[in-house]
Amino acid sequence: MRYRLILLILPLFALLAVSAGFAYVHWSKGGTGTGLYSRYWSPDPVQGYWDPDNFYQSVKSVEGVFKAALCIQCHEGITPGIVADWRASRHGQSDNPVYCNDCHGSDHQHLRLPTPEVCGNCHQKQHGEFKDEARYGFPSHVLAMERAVDAKHFVDKPKGEVQSCVQCHSVATKCDSCHTRHRFDAAEARRPEACITCHSGPPHPDDETYFASAHGKLYLAEGNDWDWSKPLTKGNYKAPTCAYCHMDGGRHQVAHKSLWKFGLREVNPHTSKNQVLRKNWIKLCGDCHEQEKARQWLTELDQERKRAWQKLYAAEDILKDLRSDNLLQPAAGERPPYPMDWMDRLWPRERIGFFEGQASAFYNVSAIERDYFEMWYFDNLGAYKSAAHGNQAGVESGHRKMAASLDRIETKASELYHLSDTEQRAEITPEASHEIWMKGAYTDYNRKHN
Ligand code: HEC
Ligand code: HEC
Ligand code: HEC
Ligand code: HEC
Ligand code: HEC
Ligand code: HEC
Ligand code: HEC
Ligand code: HEC
Repeated sequence: MRYRLILLILPLFALLAVSAGFAYVHWSKGGTGTGLYSRYWSPDPVQGYWDPDNFYQSVKSVEGVFKAALCIQCHEGITPGIVADWRASRHGQSDNPVYCNDCHGSDHQHLRLPTPEVCGNCHQKQHGEFKDEARYGFPSHVLAMERAVDAKHFVDKPKGEVQSCVQCHSVATKCDSCHTRHRFDAAEARRPEACITCHSGPPHPDDETYFASAHGKLYLAEGNDWDWSKPLTKGNYKAPTCAYCHMDGGRHQVAHKSLWKFGLREVNPHTSKNQVLRKNWIKLCGDCHEQEKARQWLTELDQERKRAWQKLYAAEDILKDLRSDNLLQPAAGERPPYPMDWMDRLWPRERIGFFEGQASAFYNVSAIERDYFEMWYFDNLGAYKSAAHGNQAGVESGHRKMAASLDRIETKASELYHLSDTEQRAEITPEASHEIWMKGAYTDYNRKHN
């Protein structure tokens, strides 16, 4: 009897919990913003240009429904650059031109900014590939926008610091990131400059590492003389560009060969799935190199990663020991809670490394945790991209910096143990300087102003 009751209640309870979960997610997406935390931020008007589907509102200052010739005539005076670019484009040059109103609509009070769906009406192949990338999960271009707005720190931090996120992550919500408007030029997208507006800087130094490699140097020396009207296939280019390697054959996807991905966590390169991905890479290098040589080069990358993770785990272990000895000051309960993290309020806990939560490491943490974060997020990722892209000096400097961080972490840890011993002998109970931390830079305050 008792068992039967439990058997009945358990599924009922599970059903309730699941429905409550769904209801919560649905509710949380119903705010002024987008994504999981949409109730906690509102978009600036400029967001309409980064994410037109969700936020664009047409200008109302011009009234009328216009034919294409009129759009061009009037805009020749207002935005001559746009009209000139359009005229020079394949859209403008075609026997059957694609006019302004094909993309923007004809009613000037209800203009639209074209989303990938609009381009997809005529470019099914590219749009279809682009959409299909979602099955590779994160990171990928098609999911980039949700990745940004669903990051806790996007909501926790003041808008002035995080507005840039959506600009780069808008690669998901409009098609004019690699072939810029209004030329929409395939040749432009084949060159590395098309990618580095977003793919540069410390967490993803693709720009820096590519241009320091043998491939990048060749591009710099000779690229201006290459015929960029040719597709990215074997025999057409002497050295590869970003798109040659990551969008081979013009496939509108960047995640389909990715093995180490962003570089944030350790992966096992020997699983059967990863060996398939690796084979695809080797085949690609094989356009210009002996495949066996390419395989060896990529094995060097795996070895570099193994070394990096040995250093990172060593640092993580030190931090975890400090945590169990209660020596991270201020301790989790003595910091302002992360506003978007309700788990953190219920169960305040210092979180160390990828599996315990990335956002926590960004702010309101003690110096030793910050050192670990810099080591993991900047030095490690720099070393990875250097190894992936063939920038040997970058591998060396990344590992030198990681070793230096590890030294610093060890020194600080031993100081903390020493301090704690001294305090115990003197029977002093340490008190955290609450005041300073609770007024930290990223607190509840921001929520009210986002
Ligand atoms: C009589 C002149 C005139 C005609 C005709 C005209 N426009 Fe405009 N358009 C403007 C002006 C002026 C603006 C800037 C409005 C503003 O910023 O308030 C503008 C802005 C735009 C914008 C930018 C909107 C934004 O939010 O930034 C687009 C897109 C646009 N026009 C497309 C078109 C299309 C498509 C047509 C034809 C169907 C067209 N225009 C016809 C005058 C014109
Ligand atoms: C192939 C589609 C396409 C065509 C054709 C096209 N546009 Fe655009 N236009 C775009 C896209 C994409 C954007 C950027 C939207 C965004 O930022 O989200 C844009 C943005 C604009 C803007 C506002 C942004 C800015 O740079 O100031 C204006 C104005 C504009 N277009 C005018 C025109 C005019 C005039 C024509 C015709 C001569 C035209 N467009 C033809 C796709 C097109
Ligand atoms: C109404 C149909 C239509 C729409 C909408 C449209 N295109 Fe096109 N596009 C074309 C046609 C047709 C061509 C080929 C023109 C030719 O060569 O004759 C083309 C060519 C292109 C090319 C190749 C240019 C080159 O240098 O080879 C690119 C890139 C492109 N479009 C991107 C876009 C993007 C991005 C959008 C959305 C902002 C878009 N198109 C919207 C019809 C369209
Ligand atoms: C407008 C900004 C922007 C441009 C331009 C851009 N990307 Fe990206 N790219 C991103 C963002 C943002 C992500 C990370 C998406 C996420 O968070 O999931 C990304 C992710 C990637 C990834 C990682 C995929 C994975 O599975 O690890 C590759 C590879 C990539 N891009 C290649 C390119 C190449 C090649 C170009 C140029 C042809 C390019 N990108 C142009 C913004 C951009
Ligand atoms: C300069 C352009 C740029 C800016 C600004 C930017 N990102 Fe990114 N972001 C990228 C690129 C490129 C990648 C992918 C790197 C890779 O795979 O190597 C990425 C990756 C990510 C990832 C990891 C994706 C994953 O699935 O692991 C997250 C999360 C993210 N960004 C969120 C943000 C947030 C939040 C902000 C603002 C605080 C931001 N980004 C600002 C370009 C940018
Ligand atoms: C990450 C950069 C990037 C983004 C984002 C991007 N493209 Fe492209 N696109 C390229 C590259 C690179 C090529 C040249 C491919 C080649 O050489 O075969 C290209 C070529 C094209 C072509 C010409 C194909 C041909 O064979 O002539 C069209 C059409 C096109 N893209 C449409 C789109 C549409 C639609 C979107 C949005 C869904 C989009 N692109 C987004 C990089 C990009
Ligand atoms: C010679 C081919 C080649 C060129 C050129 C190249 N990459 Fe890569 N890239 C790689 C390889 C190989 C990896 C590591 C892939 C792995 O093991 O997962 C990588 C990794 C990446 C990643 C991490 C995500 C992933 O797919 O693993 C991004 C983002 C990236 N490259 C962007 C760029 C950008 C942007 C450029 C141009 C500035 C560029 N790459 C040039 C081969 C190349
Ligand atoms: C489109 C042709 C092309 C592709 C594809 C290509 N490479 Fe290269 N690579 C070159 C050229 C050309 C050089 C310069 C060779 C020289 O210095 O004589 C080079 C140089 C190198 C070097 C410098 C060492 C050396 O022997 O000169 C490495 C390492 C390298 N490539 C690795 C790769 C890897 C790994 C891939 C695939 C992820 C790849 N390449 C894809 C053309 C290519």
